[in-house]
Amino acid sequence: MTYETPRLFFRPLEEKDAESLFKNVYRDENVNRYLRFDTHKNAEETKKVIKEFLENNQEIYVLIEKETKEIIGTIEIADKSLLNQTCAIGYLIGSKWWSLGYGTEALKQTISFLFQNFDYQLIETVVRNDNKGSAKICEKSQMKLDGILRNRRIDKIDGHRDDIRVYSITKQEWRNLS
Ligand SMILES: CC(C)(COP(=O)(O)OP(=O)(O)OC[C@H]1O[C@@H](n2cnc3c(N)ncnc32)[C@H](O)[C@@H]1OP(=O)(O)O)[C@@H](O)C(=O)NCCC(=O)NCCS
Repeated sequence: MTYETPRLFFRPLEEKDAESLFKNVYRDENVNRYLRFDTHKNAEETKKVIKEFLENNQEIYVLIEKETKEIIGTIEIADKSLLNQTCAIGYLIGSKWWSLGYGTEALKQTISFLFQNFDYQLIETVVRNDNKGSAKICEKSQMKLDGILRNRRIDKIDGHRDDIRVYSITKQEWRNLS
């Protein structure tokens, strides 16, 4: 399935996306600053990782900037629970495209896409406490802060421990927005 906003197009990840994703996202040290994966050294590494994602049936969409047709990021739908009707959204955008409103646009539209097309009752995001840009887009997408879990992450550069913020939005809250 695909979905879109005025400026962005979202489609499922494919093996052929490796070069673009390496160039625009995975080699970018700013992107994984608060995340657990290491920056990729070459497109071969990205190719291998994408292959694993596809083999594991991970649900990942690429974000395409309509104006340039560049792949500028990814959105992952993770931790899916059929029983509890919940899932989590993870997102990465190359730093060249930050602060243009794309993160908020992508998160809002992904929430709508999921509630409209699947049987989820709640969608969550998990954000490291010092990842201010990520927290901001959750708040701008009308997600609520459920709570802060203490000391759950170790910073890979200086080793300090940091808290995580858990945000969520229910289907009813999303309905009330429109
Ligand atoms: C999080 C991310 C997707 C945001 O994307 P984006 O396209 O820059 O998002 P937007 O432009 O919609 O909004 C970002 C907001 O955060 C603000 N922001 C960014 N860095 C900030 C900081 N260090 N302190 C305070 N605010 C900050 C921006 O000013 C902007 O707010 P504004 O619209 O009110 O000016 C992007 O930064 C990213 O991919 N980061 C790396 C991967 C990552 O950490 N993913 C999240 C995992 S939980």
